[in-house]
Amino acid sequence: MGIHNKMKFIKYIFLIGMVLFLFNACYYDKKDQVYPQVVVAACDTANVSYSVTVTNILNANCNNCHGASANSLGAGIFLNSYASVQPYISSGRLVNSILQNGSASSMPKNAAKLDVCSINKIILWVNKGAINN
Ligand code: HEC
Repeated sequence: MGIHNKMKFIKYIFLIGMVLFLFNACYYDKKDQVYPQVVVAACDTANVSYSVTVTNILNANCNNCHGASANSLGAGIFLNSYASVQPYISSGRLVNSILQNGSASSMPKNAAKLDVCSINKIILWVNKGAINN
């Protein structure tokens, strides 16, 4: 093959490659629209209540230290009843602690931040007056 034909051949292969690449890209675009692969769970903040939402989050993440049976771990701070949570709402310490913003001890202690959805639910409940619903 001469140099000229070699160049033609390379261009031809390149062209086929581009066509296959574009075709492939279109194929995947379509497939992703028809069968979404990643389902991002929405954060349901419509029905936030103390009795279900907030207690579930506190029981799952906090009350191993701040519940009645484990008070030596939680520095005498209880978050296992509506009344015992109140002082930490009015002082802003509950929200600041889970935001880990430096205005209160970061909570959960020695652990990663709560997921964004849980944090948002607690903040929403607090902003709506932290009622005993
Ligand atoms: C491993 C035990 C542990 C866990 C889990 C834990 N805490 Fe604490 N928490 C403590 C201790 C101990 C303190 C006392 C302050 C300190 O040592 O940092 C404290 C302090 C606090 C305070 C007072 C902060 C201040 O600066 O006055 C709040 C509010 C609080 N925790 C909320 C929570 C919340 C909400 C969770 C769950 C998201 C949680 N804690 C999880 C151990 C824990």
